[in-house]
Parts: sequence; structure tokens; C-alpha cells
Amino acid sequence: MVCSIVNPSILSADFADLACDCQRILDAGNGDVKWLHIDIMDGHFVPNISFGPPVLSCLTKKLADRKLFYDCHMMVSNPLQWVEPMAEAGGSQYTFHLEAAKDPQAVIDKVKQHGMKVGIAIKPGTPVEDVIPWANQADMILVMTVEPGFGGQKFMPDMMPKVRVLRQKYPELNLEVDGGLGEGNVDVAAEAGANVIVAGTSVFKSPDVATTVQVLKNSVEKHSAK
Ligand code: DX5
Ligand code: ZN
Repeated sequence: MVCSIVNPSILSADFADLACDCQRILDAGNGDVKWLHIDIMDGHFVPNISFGPPVLSCLTKKLADRKLFYDCHMMVSNPLQWVEPMAEAGGSQYTFHLEAAKDPQAVIDKVKQHGMKVGIAIKPGTPVEDVIPWANQADMILVMTVEPGFGGQKFMPDMMPKVRVLRQKYPELNLEVDGGLGEGNVDVAAEAGANVIVAGTSVFKSPDVATTVQVLKNSVEKHSAK
């Protein structure tokens, strides 16, 4: 059975007070937030710029005692280029976009050489069949539920058939959904088979972070037990 993983996206954090804002979420999560989702954007693969390895490096140093898993979502045009800097900055998993990789095998190999887990992401327009040839080498597959680039967008439920196909084929694989997820729709994703729930706005802007984290976590637990 897969684990239920609540994965707050720091894209919705207060960048001027990043470590403190993350600590606020970790404390409210009371041990149930063990991952942070790190959205790296290069202004080229997506029409937005977020932050890069130096920011992750500062954050991982500051939060070292928390022993977190840093899930790095690489929205960059040249995924090979950033493997080493992200590993050095403390990244735990390197999730590259299949659409950006000229040679996915080369990226997979380099990520493994640098001691990180391998994640592979697909955008809403990419068919699930495209990722299947690589799935057995991946630690996680990310099915985007918005067009990558910005937080606060609307969840696309029509991505769920991709999640279903992957869950049926790979019962033990981490399957992540990212974009527009919150208390109101997590059941849709969990029921389809997602077990890693990225949540930016819904967690960082929640009036009651502890409850939001519990609702997200319990939803996956409930559905993955079936
Ligand atoms: C969007 C990013 C997401 C984003 C999600 O391109 O990949 O991780 O932070 O934010 P919400 O949860 O607000 O949609
Ligand atoms: Zn993301």
C-alpha cells in the first residue's frame, strides 16, 4: 500500500520570511508534513520565474533539524543542467518534465548518479502513454492538474483518467497530483489513486492549517486502504 503524503508547495509561502512560514506549516502539521514541494521555474519552460537552487540551499540548511524530503518540481527547459545544483542545494527528489527532456534516459541517469530520487512530470496536454515507457525507472510520477507556472489555479478533474491508468498499472508507485488541490476536491484525486497531494494555496493560506493537512492526509488514507 502507498503512503499518504501531504506536500505543501512553498510557491504560496511568504518568500520574505520563507523558513518561518514553512515552520508554521510544519508545526501545524504536527508530524504529518514530511515533504515540501519546491517549484523551480525558469521563465522559459513556463511563463513565470520563481526561485532557484540558492534559495533551496538556504532553506535546507535552516530546516536541517526537521529532516524533510525536498520534492523539487523542475519547470525548466533544460532539466540536465540543474541536476547537480539541485543535489548540492539539498534536493531529495528531482522531478523533471517529460516534455522538456530531449533524452529522458540521460536525465534519469544523472539524477540517480547525484543521489536523488527520480520524478517524472506530465503537463495536462501530454498523454499518459508517453510516460509509461519510463515509469519503471521512476520513484514518482507527477500528473499536473493545472498548466504549470502559477499557484492558485483551478483543479482539472479531467486529468483523473491518467491517474487511474497509472495506479492500475503501478500499485506501489508514488503518484503525485499538483495544482488547485484542497479540502474540497482531494477526494476526487485520492479516489483516482493519487497518494502525493501537492497543496500550495490551500495549505499556506488556510485559516486552519492543522485541519487542512488532516483532511488531505485522511482522504488518501481512506481511498488507498480500499
Ligand atoms: C504550479 C506549481 C504548483 C503550485 C500549486 O505550476 O507546480 O506546485 O504551487 O499551487 P496551488 O496548490 O495553489 O494550485
Ligand atoms: Zn509544482
